[in-house]
Amino acid sequence: MGSLTIRQLDEALKRQLRLRAARHGRSVEDEVRTILRSAAAEADLIAGTAPEHDAGGKRQAMRAAAAAAAAAASTRCVLLIIGGGIAAYKSLDLIRRLRERGAEVRCVLTAAAQHFVTPLAAGALAGERAFTDLFDPQSEFDVGHIRLAREADLIVVAPATADLIAKMAGGRADDLASAVLLATDNPVLIAPAMNPHMWAAKATQRNLAQLKADGIRFVGPNAGEMAERGEAGIGRMAEPLEIAAAAEAIMRGSGVLSGQRVLVTSGPTSEPIDPVRFIANRSSGKQGHAIAAAAAAAGADVTLVSGPVNLPDPPGLAVVRVETARQMLAAVERALPADVAVFAAAVADWRPQQASRNKIKKQGRPPTLELVENPDILSTVAHMTSGRPRLVIGFAAETDHVVAHAKVKLAKKGCDWIVANDVSPETGVMGGDVNTIHIVTADGVESWPPRAKDDVARALVGRIAAALAEAKR
Ligand code: C5P
Repeated sequence: MGSLTIRQLDEALKRQLRLRAARHGRSVEDEVRTILRSAAAEADLIAGTAPEHDAGGKRQAMRAAAAAAAAAASTRCVLLIIGGGIAAYKSLDLIRRLRERGAEVRCVLTAAAQHFVTPLAAGALAGERAFTDLFDPQSEFDVGHIRLAREADLIVVAPATADLIAKMAGGRADDLASAVLLATDNPVLIAPAMNPHMWAAKATQRNLAQLKADGIRFVGPNAGEMAERGEAGIGRMAEPLEIAAAAEAIMRGSGVLSGQRVLVTSGPTSEPIDPVRFIANRSSGKQGHAIAAAAAAAGADVTLVSGPVNLPDPPGLAVVRVETARQMLAAVERALPADVAVFAAAVADWRPQQASRNKIKKQGRPPTLELVENPDILSTVAHMTSGRPRLVIGFAAETDHVVAHAKVKLAKKGCDWIVANDVSPETGVMGGDVNTIHIVTADGVESWPPRAKDDVARALVGRIAAALAEAKR
């Protein structure tokens, strides 16, 4: 059997692997093992040798693989061109803000930029070496200015100096940054930064008018104090968060769920017994939060209704925090209408009939808890006669006969899909980072191989987008 080492892979693939491995907190070798295991399982499914495989399984497994590929393709790549101005130090923070939003970032530094920040710093923050030289044989051989221009979903120029703006307006291509900008037909967002006199200069204004006519988008500049003492006016570069938000808005416009409203519930609910005690469950909220984040990254307008979790709010979406099932139902009803509703929360089925106002004291015999049933949020929304979301998706956490139970649940709850997962303790799904799901619909069952919860979320979003598109036809 031949051998293949990671070193032999091409740079783009190595880069992708490094990013994935970092995201999942694994070594590159472990990441490759996980991908190969998952691919082997997928191949089994397609070949029909996997155990969990019913009629129509091959076609559905292929659809699942296609959805996963679409989802992988939906990871956005931003090329950040850093120009030579004092605001360049803020561009290092911008790299982080963009990556927080799920974008992969590549950096190009102009010669002038390197007087302010180093390619090493930009490369370390981006997770890939920064590019600087049009005539560097290695960069041109590896990636090249044409690939840099084409592989970016969006090019952000920050700071866009008066000189860079002039070059763009004149169609110059005498360094890597300007050559990439001339070679691209992808959207370009610029964050101008310069002294107010340079900004107001007729030549700059002429160039800006040209760029606007050419379809270049702008963020800033803001008014405020300049780096030069005593100088103030229009010319300060927009803040990194503003630039990241503008970039995100542009990328959303081209996402697979752009224009769709998506509602997601996530996490457990917590039902009070008294002011200090409550009934809860082991749900971490990881899968629900990942779905909300993936939908937002795909351009959807997302509301995430979350029970108590130890997770940060995903960026770019509205988060409503609740504790009890009844609060969750109220928040869901307020968040409607939506095109798609995904109920990933592990809602407590019962709550204590009456939460005690005061802490219950030990008094000889243990107290008896009288439980009453909570409202079923999924079933309530799925059975709505008007304003029902077009696609209502429930989850089913099961410890045995996973698919059989999910089929019963699909009918009982009245939803369109049940995403079933095996949460028996040996699977490590509850609170873990990997999930194995089966999508149960009226058409059949799609069984997906084990994947990181983030990957499951992206693939599910791809699958949702495909279903919405199919329904339109
Ligand atoms: O009945 P079971 O709890 O197994 O159903 C799970 C699905 O129903 C999940 O999608 C969950 O979010 C939803 N659910 C709900 N409200 C409840 C109980 C479950 O929305 N009270």
